[in-house]
Amino acid sequence: MEIQSPLGMQDILPEDVQLWKKVESAMHRICALYRYSEIRTPLFEFTSLFTRSVGEVTDIVEKEMYTFTSNTDSTPISLRPEFTAGIVRAYLQHSMHKQKAFQKFYAFGPLFRRERPQKGRYRQFHQFDIEALGSYSPYLDAETILLASDFLNELGLKEYKISINSIGCPACRAEYREVLKKALAPRISELCQNCQARYERNVFRIMDCKSEKCRSIASKLPTIQGYLCDNCKNHFDKVVSILKVTELEDRVNPFYAGQTTQVSEAKSVPNPLLVRGFDYYTKTTFEFTYPSALGSQDAILGGGRYDNLIEDLGGPKSGAVGFAAGIERIILALKDTKSQMSIKKLPKNIPIFVASVTEQEQERNQEQDAVLRDAVFKIATQLRRDGRPADMDFEARSLKAQMKVANKLNYKYVIKIGSDELARYGMTVKNMNTGKEEFYSDKYINEYLNGLDVRDATVSDKVRAGEFLDLHNKAIFLHKEGKEKEAAGLLDDAAKISEELNIEDIFPLSSFYGFKGTVDRNRGDFKNAEVDLLKSVKKDKDYALGWFVLCTVQMKLGKEDEAIRSFMKAYEITGDAWSDWALRDGNKKYFSQEFLERLKSEIETPKGA
Ligand code: HAM
Repeated sequence: MEIQSPLGMQDILPEDVQLWKKVESAMHRICALYRYSEIRTPLFEFTSLFTRSVGEVTDIVEKEMYTFTSNTDSTPISLRPEFTAGIVRAYLQHSMHKQKAFQKFYAFGPLFRRERPQKGRYRQFHQFDIEALGSYSPYLDAETILLASDFLNELGLKEYKISINSIGCPACRAEYREVLKKALAPRISELCQNCQARYERNVFRIMDCKSEKCRSIASKLPTIQGYLCDNCKNHFDKVVSILKVTELEDRVNPFYAGQTTQVSEAKSVPNPLLVRGFDYYTKTTFEFTYPSALGSQDAILGGGRYDNLIEDLGGPKSGAVGFAAGIERIILALKDTKSQMSIKKLPKNIPIFVASVTEQEQERNQEQDAVLRDAVFKIATQLRRDGRPADMDFEARSLKAQMKVANKLNYKYVIKIGSDELARYGMTVKNMNTGKEEFYSDKYINEYLNGLDVRDATVSDKVRAGEFLDLHNKAIFLHKEGKEKEAAGLLDDAAKISEELNIEDIFPLSSFYGFKGTVDRNRGDFKNAEVDLLKSVKKDKDYALGWFVLCTVQMKLGKEDEAIRSFMKAYEITGDAWSDWALRDGNKKYFSQEFLERLKSEIETPKGA
């Protein structure tokens, strides 16, 4: 008997498991920042769930599902080919929509599709999936796209391309369907067998057929942009404009931002309609590709809005957005790019709810409202990028109503943004327990919030912060006795604590990394010394000693130009004290006479000469 896995199923071997774990940890971190909660649904669902949601006339349902009936029950069940349907089913089955109208979920796990296996396409594969249920807001579409890009950025995967499109709602699609049918009617016989059947049953799917001939025909068809109803068009324009606020638009091919209507004008990506193979989508659809590392299967992640699915499955009328990322493809991209994946610290302790100071309905000024909501979205994004969990209200409610939401979700602090705050370049922080409000300028807000983290730290965090100080102090004694190797060991342990906890407020990390770099240097580990000292001066660019020690290390590494630059930074901060330092006995050994001459002439040459 041949020993082989069935159906080309993949093993994940130990050397790869480490990589998988890093991807999973990035996923958990990003979801914490965006306030998503993990959900785990079963591998099997009733087949009818997928027929009703994914759609009867789709490749997945028609050809790709593994469907069974059990011995005792004749109702067919299928191995899940995707997460969305199962998550919506769970949301409704457990009446979660009755507890809170708006909820965010994420899931991770295996899925099954009977596709022809090739690089990046497997019959058992894994996804990281997110679903935000219960809102029609275009801010949610933009937030979802942002979450996807933050996730890939965190993994060090920077070369993705985003395509975004709107496929309208059933109302605008009805007209467009007729337009497509009319345009295709004279060419039906030229289409592949599959598409000939699709012509009657699901004409949109012809747009993403893989056959050369169908693609060439599809590329000359009118796109849906010209047929979007006002509501869909406004929604799409708003999503694109919000993405601009967050500076993501550079990545979005202008075609897909709806600026042109002819498919043939799209040069870089062949599938501008993003029909996306599922019937549940409405309005926004998007796909991230990674062409530099993946072959023909270069879609690394895809998703969109589905405003009718919850209702179609028996729930209330409510909007939703989600996406799923293919983990196998991410692993392939990571291996290809050998990206420098740096999983950042765990999220900071205190989550923040950001609210706009919006008047009650009758007194609203819509323009002002829009400015404030854009500002709120931007601040929530910035907080997350700074490692702090943050959320906002998507429903354009009054301040009072937003505060109610924040209270219900147990936020201890709310940042309030009104026109006054915008004019003063700052924000008001409200302590929800005491009711006290304080204004902070943009410049100091992070410092203030970090301080809250320390005060609010759990007892175990405080004990660990104490350990950090203890390790640091012991290292000073060892360093003074010349025991640099032992000191370095303690400082490595302290650095690990500083990466997990926010201790900046009890100890300046510029000085910590300056000391660590000095110890590394003294024991001859110049490479690590440089890394630490660069961290030190990055944390405080006015830390003269850090720059000076960095200069000595760069000399040792043969980076004379960089050494001069570092020295000049120290000199700019301390002025003439430079010669004192450079010539101090202990430091002389780092500089040749020639280098000192060069420094001298650098200092004596007036700037700009
Ligand atoms: P999808 O585009 O079918 O969307 O899949 C999302 C991602 O899963 C793809 O971009 C790809 O990276 C990966 N993927 C799909 N099929 C395979 C396969 N056979 N082998 C390896 N990787 C694969 C969905 O599944 C939607 N449920 C996404 C969504 C969530 N839309 C709204 N919410």
